[in-house]
Amino acid sequence: MLSILKGPYLQWPTPTSMTIMWETSGPSSTEARYWQTQRTHNRGMVALPETQQQATGAGDTSIHNLVLEGLEPETLYRYLVRSADTSGQVVESAILPFKTAVRPETPFSFAVTSESGGYGDDQINRRLFPLIQSHRPDFLLMVGDAVSHGKRYEDWDLYFFAPAKGLLHSTPFYLCWGNHEERASWARDFVAYPEPKNHYSFDYGNTHFTALDCTALVDYREGPPVATAELQPGSAQWRFLEADLAASGATWKVVFFHYPPYVSADYEVEALRVLCPVLEAHGVDLVFNSHTIVYERSHPLRQDRLDLERGIVYVVAGGAGAKPEWFHPKRSWHTARAQAVPHFVEVVVAGPTLEVRAIDEQGHLFDTFHMRK
Ligand SMILES: [Fe+2]
Repeated sequence: MLSILKGPYLQWPTPTSMTIMWETSGPSSTEARYWQTQRTHNRGMVALPETQQQATGAGDTSIHNLVLEGLEPETLYRYLVRSADTSGQVVESAILPFKTAVRPETPFSFAVTSESGGYGDDQINRRLFPLIQSHRPDFLLMVGDAVSHGKRYEDWDLYFFAPAKGLLHSTPFYLCWGNHEERASWARDFVAYPEPKNHYSFDYGNTHFTALDCTALVDYREGPPVATAELQPGSAQWRFLEADLAASGATWKVVFFHYPPYVSADYEVEALRVLCPVLEAHGVDLVFNSHTIVYERSHPLRQDRLDLERGIVYVVAGGAGAKPEWFHPKRSWHTARAQAVPHFVEVVVAGPTLEVRAIDEQGHLFDTFHMRK
C-alpha cells in the first residue's frame, strides 16, 4: 500500500517560489497542485478552484522534492501532493497552506528551537511543536539535535517529522547540524538547502540568516572540545562565513550553529569564540545556539566583554528536549537570563525593530528583549 511517510513539508521559501518535500513508502511520481487561497465566508472550507496549477517532478523516487516557481510574494497558497506508483496505487495528501516569503519591507516572525532528539521526556517535542504552530511563525530555525541518532533512519520520524508534522506542513524549517545529526546522509536527503547543505545562508524580509556546521569546526566526541583545522581563517567554512556576511546589506544579521560559545554550563564551547570577531566585524546582531537543553540569553558581548552599545546577543534555545538542570550552580559573567525549562523562542522583526520572546510549554512568556536599529 503506497503511503506518505513524511510530510508533505516545506523548504527554502523565496518571494516567488516554494519547495515541497515528502517521502513515500516506495518509488512513485512527484506531483503537486496549488492555488492562491480565496477569501471565503465559510471559514475552514477550502474549495478546489478552477485556477489551480500543477507541477510535476522527475518521479520514480521515495523522497520527493518539488519546486513551485512563479509565485506571488507574501501570498497564501493551498497545495496538495500526489504520488502514484507503477502498479497504479495512488496516494494524496490533505489540502495544506503555505505562504511565500515576504518582501524586504514587510514584518515577519520566526520560531527557534532544537533538541527534539530527546533526553528524558521525549513527549516534550510533541507538546512544543503544536505550541509553535499556534504562534504561526513564517518559518522555523532548528538549531540542531533534531534527532537522537541521525544515522538511524527511524529517528527522523520519531523525533522530528512525526511530532512536528502539523507545523511542518505549513512552515518551512532550516536545520543546522548538531552532534546528534551525526553528519548522516539523512541530514542531507531530507532537506533542500544549497550544497554543501551543512552551511548556507538566506534572506527573509530585511534579515540575513547564516547557518554554520560547528560539528566540522569542533571535535567533540569525548573529553573537552578541540578545534579542528576548519576552525581557522582560510578554511572553506571560515571563508564562506566572511564572504557571506560581508556581501549582505541586510538590516539584521542572524547566525545560528549548534555548539554555544557562551552558556553557563559544561557544554559551553569556548573554542568557538574565535568566530566572534568575524561576527562582530560584519555587524551580526543575534546568534542562536543549542547543545545545552536550556534557555540562556547573554548580555550584549563584543571582544569577549560586555558591550551594551555594539555587542552581539547569544541565545541558547535548547527547548524541545527535557533535561532540566544542566546549568552551573551560579551564572557566568556573560549570562543575562537563564532558565532550564522546555520552551521555544519567537522572534518578530518589524523594520528597524526586533523582538525576541522566550515562551515556555504552557505558552507563558518568561523572557523578552528588544533591539532597535
Ligand atoms: Fe548537541
